[in-house]
Amino acid sequence: MFNVKFNNGIEMPILGLGVYKMTNKEELENAVKWAIDAGYRKFDTAQFYNNEKELGEAIRKTGIKREEVFITTKIWNTKQGYNSTRKSFEESLEKLNMDYVDLLLIHWPGQKKERYLDTYRALENICQSKKAKSIGLSNFEIKHLKDIFAHCNIAPVVNQIERHPNLLRNELVDFCKKHNIVLEAWSPLGRGKLLSNDIVLDIAKKYNKTPAQIILRWNIESNIAVIPKSVNKDRIEENINVFDFKLEQNDIEKLNSLENGYRIGDDPLTFDF
Ligand code: A2P
Repeated sequence: MFNVKFNNGIEMPILGLGVYKMTNKEELENAVKWAIDAGYRKFDTAQFYNNEKELGEAIRKTGIKREEVFITTKIWNTKQGYNSTRKSFEESLEKLNMDYVDLLLIHWPGQKKERYLDTYRALENICQSKKAKSIGLSNFEIKHLKDIFAHCNIAPVVNQIERHPNLLRNELVDFCKKHNIVLEAWSPLGRGKLLSNDIVLDIAKKYNKTPAQIILRWNIESNIAVIPKSVNKDRIEENINVFDFKLEQNDIEKLNSLENGYRIGDDPLTFDF
């Protein structure tokens, strides 16, 4: 495992556990325990996932120290705006039962510029108060990012986007890299859909790895952070076991050839709320 470094000097583990859809308390507790035992130190939640309280409890139950884990949460769409963002963030901290989060993101930009700029100003205020050590964005496209750059005082450190071999996002990836924003891929396994693809299966056989490990490694080779979700002990262990091999360039290119524009989530260029 290694870290990626933010433009503010803070580091984040390149791989962590996504906890979207984990609302069953026992399932979440088990997943977090198995993850900590396997070496995970990053957990990615959101107000929308409705499990901040359970995640906080699950982490405390493992006995790990707060400063040894990296926690991300995200402001939900209906909470955007300066005051409601700040209020909802305090609620998130209370639910997590933590004094700070490591990373706070805006979950979706939507199409109303003034609204996401106001929300970002609230994030800057929260960052200054040290209750979020770093702040960033999720699902922001180049046009949204340009608006943030034109108005921000604290640069975002991360843009968390949907990225997997069916959706490469080259232009956005290049833009973020040029502007020193770390990319993080949500649903890096294409929510399981890519795992039965013939090309992925062939490459997996060649490296004696599983399809999931190949796809996770593919993002990591580009220094793109990943947060695969699993509630299954074997898969949680499998997904972090990706630091003992490297993909050859021709295999990376074969995986790149799977681009077909397929998305799991909404298109952030048009999605509004
Ligand atoms: P489960 O939680 O039952 O293990 P993504 O992170 O791209 O959204 O993908 C998550 C989905 O992929 C979940 O349905 C999860 O199921 C499944 N998954 C996670 N890791 C693996 C793996 N190593 N092999 C197969 N399926 C996996």
